[in-house]
Amino acid sequence: MFKSIITRALTILFLCAVVIACQEEKKKRINFPPTDLAKENLIPKPLKIIPTNMAFGLDRYTAIYTTQDAKGFSEVGQFLADKIKAKLDLDVPVNSEGEEPIERIIYINQSDSLELNSTEAYQLYITQDSVILNSNTAEGAFRGIQTLRQIIPEESIDTLAEQRIWPIPSGMITDNPNFGFRGSMLDVARHFFSVEDVKKYIDLLSYYKINVLHLHLSDDQGWRIEIKSWPKLTEIGGSTEVGGEAGGFFNQEDYKEIVAYATKHYMTIIPEIDMPGHTNAASVSYPFLNGNGKTPKLYEGTRVGFSTFDTRKDTVYSFIDDVVREISAITPGPYFHIGGDESHVTKKNDYIYFVEKVEKIVQKYGKRMIGWDEIASAEVDSTSISQYWSSGKNAQKAIKRGMKVILSPAKKTYLDMQYDTLSKHGLHWAAYIPVDSAYVWTPEEYEGIPMENILGVEAPLWSETISNIDELEYLAFPRVIGYSELSWSIKENRDWENFKIRLANQAPYLDRMDVKFYASPKIDWKKSKYTYEEIKKD
Ligand code: ACM
Repeated sequence: MFKSIITRALTILFLCAVVIACQEEKKKRINFPPTDLAKENLIPKPLKIIPTNMAFGLDRYTAIYTTQDAKGFSEVGQFLADKIKAKLDLDVPVNSEGEEPIERIIYINQSDSLELNSTEAYQLYITQDSVILNSNTAEGAFRGIQTLRQIIPEESIDTLAEQRIWPIPSGMITDNPNFGFRGSMLDVARHFFSVEDVKKYIDLLSYYKINVLHLHLSDDQGWRIEIKSWPKLTEIGGSTEVGGEAGGFFNQEDYKEIVAYATKHYMTIIPEIDMPGHTNAASVSYPFLNGNGKTPKLYEGTRVGFSTFDTRKDTVYSFIDDVVREISAITPGPYFHIGGDESHVTKKNDYIYFVEKVEKIVQKYGKRMIGWDEIASAEVDSTSISQYWSSGKNAQKAIKRGMKVILSPAKKTYLDMQYDTLSKHGLHWAAYIPVDSAYVWTPEEYEGIPMENILGVEAPLWSETISNIDELEYLAFPRVIGYSELSWSIKENRDWENFKIRLANQAPYLDRMDVKFYASPKIDWKKSKYTYEEIKKD
């Protein structure tokens, strides 16, 4: 404790010395043209922005300092330095002197301020001499860093100074998310996606403060995660995919690598094993699981609703126990998703019996059960979570049980829905979802679901029609950027006309990240190399 007070005092003294030194060197201060922090192209829009119309000059005389006696802060500082290096090719030292004299600092500070009394809250104070980021937790600092990344300009400006300078608009930002759960889902079962693909998706999502990635790891067409006690699941069940390509799977080391990468980005991975329906790949691997009365064969089509586990066999539950145990052991997040959707060939009573038994298994391994909205027809616990995709009636049942609901209504949030009739990929059974329709709705007031029951918003990306990262990006971007704002920003701060302009200005970032986004003609994209004309020619 004493040591920590001394460290704090020394840090404050150091900061004062830097600020005084900076003031003494006023002659070195660059006169930037006036800025307006409130007009920056931030997504999601922060809670409150107060511009002070000057600028912090980021240059080679800038250093990052962080609180060092609180977990994770120096890593967040390093993360920022790495991203600045990648964006500007500028080296900014972290908690060290570096090669150059220090004239300005970015200080990432652990603060116990009550105003910041929520895990992801942060404040940014940007002046000519310093950027101070305050947060209670490293997670809050990580969210704040994304804001800072978005206001660091892509280009340096011309000044009389001999070094390159990137002006960051000055002012104050106070921010805190509207929903603590802001997610996307990736279906790696219909088509398999590599660890590298998933990592790139995590990079992009976390830039927009999305904090949950739900992985749909099994379905009729493929089983995608190694289960050591049941090896045929991946040997047989992982051997193909929609369209008959080679399929694939994550071994447990791969999965751990994804989880570690997500953790570094303050993102929770939710594993989903879909059951009792959507289980053809599991039943082909181990036919005793099968309950639909037919001999299962590997399936490469896209029909749904024909498979089921045998819900009245004890050995089926021993199998599920092993699967939940092995996956839970390598999943630090609090959730386990059991699917539960479209079990059209499972008798209603069998389905209810199944969900109630599996819920106990999930709880035994310390996880909170999530299931698609159908699960609320069983007597599930109020701590379990219903993911609303299709049925308002099921959502109401979940509310009666006191459950939380994740909002993923297919007609609003399904990323695999086509933008319009010209879309190269995707389906349209729920709706066409153009970029404006994806954004213009109000989760807080969706179909009368009380705000206190809403855990958050998740945008699922099913992969029947996409088989590589370019196609994934075409469907996810730009719509997922809108879902980030729908779940982070309060209703009063959301406005389509204003969002449209900020979205148009994401093009340089998306281009730099080589994201093959759909350049919707509804948006006046800034300097994108993918113009609408090019997209139409494809
Ligand atoms: C679903 O789209 N079957 C959850």
